[in-house]
Amino acid sequence: PVGRLPLIAGNWKLNLDHLQAIAFVQKLAWSLKDASHSYSDVEVAIFPPFTDLRSVQTLVSADKLELAYGAQDVSAHDSGAYTGEISGAFLAKLDCAYVIIGHSERRTLHNETDEVVATKVSAALKHGLVPVLCVGETAEDLEKFGPSAVPVAQLKAALAGVPATANIVVAYEPVWAIGSGKAATPEQAEAVCAALRAELNTTLGADAAAATRILYGGSVKAANIASFMREPNVDGALVGGASLDLDEFSAIVRYKK
Ligand code: G3P
Repeated sequence: PVGRLPLIAGNWKLNLDHLQAIAFVQKLAWSLKDASHSYSDVEVAIFPPFTDLRSVQTLVSADKLELAYGAQDVSAHDSGAYTGEISGAFLAKLDCAYVIIGHSERRTLHNETDEVVATKVSAALKHGLVPVLCVGETAEDLEKFGPSAVPVAQLKAALAGVPATANIVVAYEPVWAIGSGKAATPEQAEAVCAALRAELNTTLGADAAAATRILYGGSVKAANIASFMREPNVDGALVGGASLDLDEFSAIVRYKK
């Protein structure tokens, strides 16, 4: 869609230490430089563990790589007595462009409520980071409430306090599709992404709805990426497992509609 540069994002989760990250990013950069392909029509971003970010920054700045990166979470706080937390200010200092917020693994395993997610979105924006806000329903939610009610409610809650002009990315990740090998169908993804865009329109207005990228995530692979990217309301993908396989991730970046 016009004005929304497709974004292919790799969420490494708890994988690849900083030495492995250096090797991976060097190979990925080499692969993306392949002269027989053009990448001007897609943005690539990676989300390594916190401890890798400084190494990634060094590689990206030294070699002027066209590779965006960000963290997988951010503290709601700027500084203080919050053992183990990393603030948006620290991420901004490492030139992170993005930060994933509200991933279902954080919501489930770390009890992050909609309220916490909303606070983290505000914290990210305050430090000039673009939040990649994850929403999605479990299999049980799907059965009880249908496909879009839970993701739309999560989006609405997360947008409390977000200005209409804010730069955000939304990622629709049905929990039942994450790491299961059972991706949503392109039609399912499109229906929920369209409902999310309608919510953006209601809450933030038409300009924000038209400009905001909405990604699909959940068992995205080289074999199914093109089918998602053909959908009008899907502007990219948040890739988990397949982002750790260099050939697979490169092939996803090279998708052809
Ligand atoms: O954030 C991306 C992720 O949750 C999807 O994981 O392994 O199904 O691609 P995966």
